[in-house]
Amino acid sequence: MSSTPPRPAVDPPVIDLPLPPPGTMGPPAQYGWLRRECPLAKVRLPIGATAWYATRYEDVRDLIADPRLIRPTINDWPPRPDRAAADEPGLITMMELNGPRHAALRRALAEPFSVRSVRRRLPRLRRSADGLLDDFTAAGQPGDLVGGFLEPFPLLAMCDLVGIPYEDREYFLPRADAALGAMVTLDEGREVTSELRDYIASLLDRKRREPADDVLTELVHACGRGTLDGESVVNFGLSMLVAGYRTSTMFLADAVVALLTPPDHYARLRDDRGLLPGAVEELLRYIPVMNGVVVLQAVEDIELHGRRIRAGDAVLPVLASANRDERMFPDADRLDLCRAENPHLAFGRGAHNCIGAHLARAQMAVGLEALLDRFPRLRLAEGQEPTWDDESPSKSPLTLPVSRHVTTVAAHGVSGPSERPRSHRPPPP
Ligand code: HEM
Repeated sequence: MSSTPPRPAVDPPVIDLPLPPPGTMGPPAQYGWLRRECPLAKVRLPIGATAWYATRYEDVRDLIADPRLIRPTINDWPPRPDRAAADEPGLITMMELNGPRHAALRRALAEPFSVRSVRRRLPRLRRSADGLLDDFTAAGQPGDLVGGFLEPFPLLAMCDLVGIPYEDREYFLPRADAALGAMVTLDEGREVTSELRDYIASLLDRKRREPADDVLTELVHACGRGTLDGESVVNFGLSMLVAGYRTSTMFLADAVVALLTPPDHYARLRDDRGLLPGAVEELLRYIPVMNGVVVLQAVEDIELHGRRIRAGDAVLPVLASANRDERMFPDADRLDLCRAENPHLAFGRGAHNCIGAHLARAQMAVGLEALLDRFPRLRLAEGQEPTWDDESPSKSPLTLPVSRHVTTVAAHGVSGPSERPRSHRPPPP
């Protein structure tokens, strides 16, 4: 980690959390200045708490894998007066586990989330994408691509792999949202968390009675063999409900915006599918969703850039800024679908790096390819702006009206009508 030699450890002035410009995915305009002039800043979050804000590539890379920084539970940070009374664990996901329990869970998940396992599932992923696009096509145009495809597709893919019934989404999605909401009261938080835990526990009972080819069944077997404890499996299930698809949705939605404004990138990918694997990596680098959403807490003092991060302080390693660091990525603010070197940090690093990275890459590649095949002349709908949540640091369009010229791409160009819409169902087991 690049720290400068002894200077008095003076705290910098506190600035407001940088937000992406309204109506855009970002990144926030301050990143370049912060990286140059104040690589370890102090920010005030909308909820009132302050946190260190690291923006340079090499600092983010080191901090996110530093064992002196833990992931606090939603109960422990940000500090809230009503949470002082909490006498039970709140929403504990895999991210907040440490030590042997975390390591055992990672071992049990290594194979089902491996490149090999995800590769085996590619045909199913493609069938899911096509099924959803059939329904989207049947709904007429212009349509909202987020609600019609970019949201359900990663959810369906996660549910299918993990063994969570997609049909239950009306039950678990609003509860997962509420559990994560900073503004819910302690009692509301407790209630939805307990409902989500009960839901996962009942699913695990079902997997014991009716084993299936999915991750939850494998974890239930691992418990039977004594290599995993039941509580860790519940923690994993909760991670999937709160984090197993949303990030992919945001990246996919921002990817479509980035490829279509202007539409040259989309056309280039349509005409040269060989670019797709590199383009997915470049989109993961370029799309600035991870604007300080990973929150770490120091368990001991850390010196960096002449500042002292004290034990207990929160630290935000800003992955989106690291991925735009000019010293690492030449012409970093340009989307370059042919970028050769691309050691981006979109999936983090170290013991808690993203377990779903291969699945997320596959979702992006398959989702984009299905779109390119189905809608070779996709455009943002004229006169209908995407809507954005401008209060949030992580931004992707909430709705994305597109116009679809329904033709398929033959081997060498654009031709012919698309196949007849089929009604969508999750792929058969
Ligand atoms: C483009 C999509 C995605 C991105 C950019 C992303 C990014 C990340 C990042 C940066 C972390 C590390 C957080 C930390 O250091 O605390 C993480 C952790 C995690 N991600 Fe993802 N993620 C994506 C999709 C997924 C998917 C599809 C799944 C599963 C279905 C998933 C499951 C997880 C889990 C369980 C962890 C916690 C791992 C642990 O604590 O050991 N992610 N993700």
